Amino acid sequence: MANQTRLLLQKQEARTEKETTKMKRVFLEVLPEQRRQASTIIAFMNNKGGVGKTSLSLAFGLTMARKNKNVLFWDNDGQSNLTQRLGITDNMLLERRVNVAFTLAPIAGSREPIRNLPFILDYPYFMRYRGSTGKAGHIALMAGSHDAETDANATFDKLNRNPRDYKNIFDFFKQTVDFYRNYFDYIIIDTAPALEGNILNQMSVRAADNVIVPIDALEAALGIEQLVKWIAGEASHAITGRVMPPNLLFAIVKYTKDTGNKKEARNTIDIDDRLRNNVYRAIQSVFGEYVCESGVKAKPSLKSKVTFRKTDFDAVVNELEQKLENKARPNFYTIWNIEKADELRNSLEAIAETNIAKKPVFKNPKYTL
Ligand SMILES: Nc1ncnc2c1ncn2[C@@H]1O[C@H](COP(=O)(O)OP(=O)(O)OP(=O)(O)O)[C@@H](O)[C@H]1O
Ligand SMILES: [Mg+2]
Repeated sequence: MANQTRLLLQKQEARTEKETTKMKRVFLEVLPEQRRQASTIIAFMNNKGGVGKTSLSLAFGLTMARKNKNVLFWDNDGQSNLTQRLGITDNMLLERRVNVAFTLAPIAGSREPIRNLPFILDYPYFMRYRGSTGKAGHIALMAGSHDAETDANATFDKLNRNPRDYKNIFDFFKQTVDFYRNYFDYIIIDTAPALEGNILNQMSVRAADNVIVPIDALEAALGIEQLVKWIAGEASHAITGRVMPPNLLFAIVKYTKDTGNKKEARNTIDIDDRLRNNVYRAIQSVFGEYVCESGVKAKPSLKSKVTFRKTDFDAVVNELEQKLENKARPNFYTIWNIEKADELRNSLEAIAETNIAKKPVFKNPKYTL
């Protein structure tokens, strides 16, 4: 790719309450060679909903932009929460001021990746937290749309019915995302809480170099085995031609109250804390260095007890960044095997059984008609 190639972005101007959003055209230069080589595609995934995929992907991307990296947020969830949290409204989408992540029907027929993106460096939260240097990387968004999954399915069906015109939409997605490696240090794909049958998630996993799996508690942990197997299947050599599936990291997220008061902590640690601690320990003992644990705080006074601290996103994100940069850590799938799966399943099932024995799932249910 010639160095003078520029990517058209639309810059969303900082706005006051009264002002309507203005967009202006901005061009992004291709990254220097070294940064292009290091550019990475990260999918945030968990088929369990509400675990913090969107929150963590946003925190990660913004932190990297504050470190002067160019970040492309790619919203592959039909709920479009990432798009919404970046301040892009439905009206802006309707007015076609923003590109939708993957309106596959037109894209599949074209060989060209989308070349203009909204550029949202000035969005209010970012300005507030940008820091004293005032320097920051570029942020762009490939917006989500509730029609994206339907469009993807329709295109897929159409392509399958017309083998003569068949264009592998998965390859196309990969090529499109890869095109943006030239301009962005991080391409962050937020995904829907779904696995089987979700084409946008299939594309995400096949394109990603890394998958970050937020885990908040037992239910999210119980889904790990299925998720890990699904990712390996989707990204398998036969389908994608890649040598290894994406590398995986688990991020323990969410928190309980941590007042720092030892006595109080000893007295108030309740069954939920114990449950979460046990879940954390089970995952940590099976996956070791593949677990990002900055969201967990060891309590030395309580010896073996740990608690989840109020999420210090900076700490979690920094740990993720370090782990992502550590090339000495082998791909997750080199350590994943039947024994690991059994070990994880057995320890989580033991935790689930203990929990069910101690605490009814439905406390004082009341049914009224
Ligand atoms: N680390 C955290 N600590 C406490 N609350 C959190 C944390 N991360 C997210 N939340 C809250 O949990 C809820 C769900 O978060 P989020 O939308 O990021 O999850 P998600 O996995 O993207 O959900 P979905 O599956 O619907 O896409 C939100 O209300 C969010 O504010
Ligand atoms: Mg989400």
